[in-house]
Amino acid sequence: MATERTLSIIKPDAVAKNAIGEIIARFEKAGLKVVAAKMVHLSEEKAGGFYAEHKERPFFKDLVGFMTSGPVVVQVLEGEGAIAKNRDLMGATNPKEAAPGTIRADFAETIDANAVHGSDSPESAEREISYFFGNDEICPR
Ligand code: PPS
Repeated sequence: MATERTLSIIKPDAVAKNAIGEIIARFEKAGLKVVAAKMVHLSEEKAGGFYAEHKERPFFKDLVGFMTSGPVVVQVLEGEGAIAKNRDLMGATNPKEAAPGTIRADFAETIDANAVHGSDSPESAEREISYFFGNDEICPR
């Protein structure tokens, strides 16, 4: 399997729960490496741009409101099959449907505040990584 990079966001609910370390530990234990990371409090413009493909969805305003409600930790994860591996670790979008032992099952309660984001395809990963990080902010290891 090819080495990939994916974008991960630890969302405001998980940051507020002080779960940053526990979530990153899950990535590292699964063989993913953090090759870039920063904590940011997103503006409405930055969050809206990130989720632009969902602009017409009924939940868009709530999603942007939630993502700007507190700081987030944005990371680039690298590893074999990193995109699918991260999605497996995260669990289903709706925490009520997330498999036991996944991040969303353990740290999230609702679909609005679901602890983590992860890129869903190589194309999304490329776009999302460059939305947050310049090449000089990514440290291959
Ligand atoms: S889709 O249809 O597959 O594109 O949508 P999905 O990946 O399920 O969801 C896209 C992001 O929107 C968030 N989401 C919601 N936010 C608030 N309220 C509701 N009802 C809702 N449904 C979905 C969901 O958490 C996804 O965010 P990310 O950050 O991509 O995981």
